Amino acid sequence: MIPRLFDMNEKTSLITGAAGFLGIRHAFALAELNSTLILTDIDEDKLLEIKKQIFTEFPKINVLTFIMDVTSTESIEQISKHLRDISIKVDVLINNAAINPVESELDFHSRLEYLSTTELQSEMNVGLIGALQCSKVFGQTMAENRQGSIINIASDLSVISPNQSLYKIDGIEESKQRVKPISYSIIKTGLIGLTRYLATYWATSNVRVNAVSPGGVFNDHDKEFEKRISQLIPMGRMCFDWELTGAVQYLASNASSYMTGQNLVIDGGRSIW
Ligand SMILES: NC(=O)c1ccc[n+]([C@@H]2O[C@H](COP(=O)([O-])OP(=O)(O)OC[C@H]3O[C@@H](n4cnc5c(N)ncnc54)[C@H](O)[C@@H]3O)[C@@H](O)[C@H]2O)c1
Repeated sequence: MIPRLFDMNEKTSLITGAAGFLGIRHAFALAELNSTLILTDIDEDKLLEIKKQIFTEFPKINVLTFIMDVTSTESIEQISKHLRDISIKVDVLINNAAINPVESELDFHSRLEYLSTTELQSEMNVGLIGALQCSKVFGQTMAENRQGSIINIASDLSVISPNQSLYKIDGIEESKQRVKPISYSIIKTGLIGLTRYLATYWATSNVRVNAVSPGGVFNDHDKEFEKRISQLIPMGRMCFDWELTGAVQYLASNASSYMTGQNLVIDGGRSIW
């Protein structure tokens, strides 16, 4: 019998970094399919705000929020234990938490010459090691239950190198120009390795592991940045936040039941140009 492809009525989905810009979009995507939601982040106020927004849009959806720091194994294990204690089984994990470099806040310290390994380490602890630790804890239980889907939120920079001309500021000498930091490329490329490793590791346990790689998502970027990046994209524009919904719904649900280890690149064609 063919399962109902997009029905997540009896499923529970946990999102890390759920209080951020895209976290709420992933939550809306899964709420549309009737999944129970477990929203986790380190920002309690924003989590509660988002819970309210979901309740307004989807009053029938069960939403739980937890402070969970993905850099702390203790914090992840504590939430996992609590969920087991209240008989909640996590079917879908979205590894979305990250420390994102904000373009407008970057300066020459973002250059390789000034690389701070402490900063690199702390970004990796959230974006890469955090995803590994959450996958280890929740994925292991999924493997025991022989059912689960893990989605790693990577980036188009998991498959291409940043084009540093995007970040250039006129009138500043080359050696002082800001750049997209190397940490971002390492983390996002690393997530694809993590995705492939875990996909084969748990393939016969019916735990699927895939990645979604969005291009730049429009979020009130300055006009010059938007113009420059749009010129690098065959579709000629940045991504809208709701344009990741279909990918999340597809990978989380039975619609993708024979897909594992893949990287869905949603970048308006930027990486093929
Ligand atoms: N926004 C984009 O244009 C874009 C493009 C491609 C990929 N992505 C990726 O999508 C994901 C979400 O991006 P976003 O734009 O929503 O970022 P965001 O900065 O708005 O959200 C990230 C969230 O992660 C949380 N976080 C930080 N450290 C944490 C920790 N130690 N434990 C738990 N949570 C922690 C933050 O509190 C925040 O709520 C990231 O992985 C990002 O790299 C974003």
